[in-house]
Amino acid sequence: MTQIDDAALALQGGQLVAFPTETVYGLGADAANPTAVARIYEAKQRPTNHPLIIHVSSVDQMDYWAIDIPEYARLLAKAFWPGPMTLILQRSDAAKDFVTGGQPSVGLRVPNHPVALELLRKYESLGGKGVAAPSANLFGRVSPTTADAVSAELSSRLSDKDMVLEGGSSAVGIESTIIDCTKAAPSILRPGAITEEMISDVTNLSLIQRDSDIRVSGALDSHYAPRAKVFLNIEPKPGQGLIALASEPTPVGVFRLCSPEDVNEYAQQLYSALRLADEKEISEVVAITPSGDGIAIAIRDRLSKASFGN
Ligand code: TXA
Ligand code: MG
Repeated sequence: MTQIDDAALALQGGQLVAFPTETVYGLGADAANPTAVARIYEAKQRPTNHPLIIHVSSVDQMDYWAIDIPEYARLLAKAFWPGPMTLILQRSDAAKDFVTGGQPSVGLRVPNHPVALELLRKYESLGGKGVAAPSANLFGRVSPTTADAVSAELSSRLSDKDMVLEGGSSAVGIESTIIDCTKAAPSILRPGAITEEMISDVTNLSLIQRDSDIRVSGALDSHYAPRAKVFLNIEPKPGQGLIALASEPTPVGVFRLCSPEDVNEYAQQLYSALRLADEKEISEVVAITPSGDGIAIAIRDRLSKASFGN
């Protein structure tokens, strides 16, 4: 038996399994088991009206959890799954209120990470239909991109039978793009590595404005926040931490938290840099946000939430 076999059995038994994905680590439970899913909310201290994403191993599971799937959503699934994209669809009877936060829609994603995919396949071979998983952090805090970060954040809230699977550093580093597919055309609820341009290229549709009646916890003004106070685009002072592209100089006395060479590396290193600030007990962090489109939009979104109110 491998550790992933054990983890699939743990899910079947109603335990929690934290697992790596290419975006961030997730805290998983059987999406059909209300008691197991309730434990996710308890461990994260997350309000129960915030819906969870159901993770599945392939597009074939879409029609189990969703109905009335528009053609453009199928095109997106075919183009970008497995990958850093979550589709919001009309839910089927299988997706219960305890997973969808009472909403008539369901979020689905096929993650692109070998450990996650093997876990999902093994779990499905045991009869499982999907794994509900939010990011494996306390509500409102920074998402973990390593197994160590998951353990540091949640181990005191997990039982002996719960598991944390190791899978290296998440390659993308920020959460999936969430796309509302319940309307005539797609709209982005949370920006990520799958960009507006990629979505319109694949669907041949222009995106519509986001719908504020759908609840996305990442859409709260304050979110993704470390203990340190985050300030954007000001000159860093001695004693403060700095998150910026490597091309940006580090003033004397400023603590460099990461030195990404480009925006993809910036996304990949962002959350571990914010965690490093807390580990080093740096109380103030300055982030110089990257300009431009693509994943830079998602980086600015996360940093503006991490810095909210400062
Ligand atoms: O990259 C990711 O998406 C990661 C990995 C683990 O897959 N997961 C993640 O989950 O970021 P979480 O729960 O931290 O954020 C998911 C967001 C939440 O803001 C939630 O409100 C939104 O997705 N969401 C889930 N189902 C939804 C639905 N039916 N309608 C609207 N928003 C939904
Ligand atoms: Mg989250």
